[in-house]
Amino acid sequence: MRDTIVILGVFVADTAYRAERQPRMGETILGNSFVLGPGGKGSNQSVAAAMAGGRVHFITRLGRDPFADMARATWARAGVNPEVTEDPDSYTGAAYIFIEDATGNNAIIISPGAAGRISVSDVEERAGLIGGAGVFITQLEQPMPAAHRALEIARAGGARTILNPAPAAEIPPEMLALCDFITPNESEAEGITGIEVKTVEDAARAADALLAQGVGAAIITLGEKGAFYRDAHQTVHVPAITAGKVVETTGAGDAFNGGFAAALARGADPIDAVRFGCATAGISVTRPGTAPSMPSLAEIEALLADGE
Ligand code: RIB
Repeated sequence: MRDTIVILGVFVADTAYRAERQPRMGETILGNSFVLGPGGKGSNQSVAAAMAGGRVHFITRLGRDPFADMARATWARAGVNPEVTEDPDSYTGAAYIFIEDATGNNAIIISPGAAGRISVSDVEERAGLIGGAGVFITQLEQPMPAAHRALEIARAGGARTILNPAPAAEIPPEMLALCDFITPNESEAEGITGIEVKTVEDAARAADALLAQGVGAAIITLGEKGAFYRDAHQTVHVPAITAGKVVETTGAGDAFNGGFAAALARGADPIDAVRFGCATAGISVTRPGTAPSMPSLAEIEALLADGE
């Protein structure tokens, strides 16, 4: 059985500020705390999938600097196999993350640095790895042509393909048609389809629009409302799985995607894999940070067993 998970994406250092609110232009305000830690959607998803028991290879670009050292240490701890192109002409990027103290919700600016230079050649050099994967997943923090080429190679090689379309961007229709699964949140689903997603019924309409563009299955993550799954044969609303008080939601989407990929690679059917992703996210939001908030396989299985 093909059980490897290959992930293409970005590592950045997350600089997370907790405060009552964001400053207005020209204003300085006092924050309540600051944490520096590993982030970037692709890297976070790799950590989540590896912690959840997956055999993960992560394709990215790094500079040669202390943030690159942080990346390598993070992957070593989680058991992620790095596939890194070193880029001495650039720097390892960073993200500014504002966390609203009252809710744990966030707003992010990311500067990907070297990972913003991930190229089609970086991807083609790993064609064997990508095409031979059980599951391939990418996001949109690195350049679109690299994501597009990787999806082509994955599809041609017979890997199951997942696009997490974050941050929201215009996606060529021929790229959507390469996706077995697409996993937008509410605002990303609206960005792609033009349909505002506030309710489960809205998610159903947005999912239809995505299926009409050629994706195999649409999985729209709905925060505290869980996730909405629709393919040509079935529609399932999977409720959120809670594991305690919400501390920070920044890594929730990545936890979901990493958990979903890990379960799919182990042979779970897509609905069970969505449930597994919801449990992974449910635990991650009870902890601070993004990659550091990802739970182990044992923790996820215990939470799922609790709900049975
Ligand atoms: O999805 C959360 C991630 O988005 C953060 O870790 C931040 O780095 C941004 O890439």
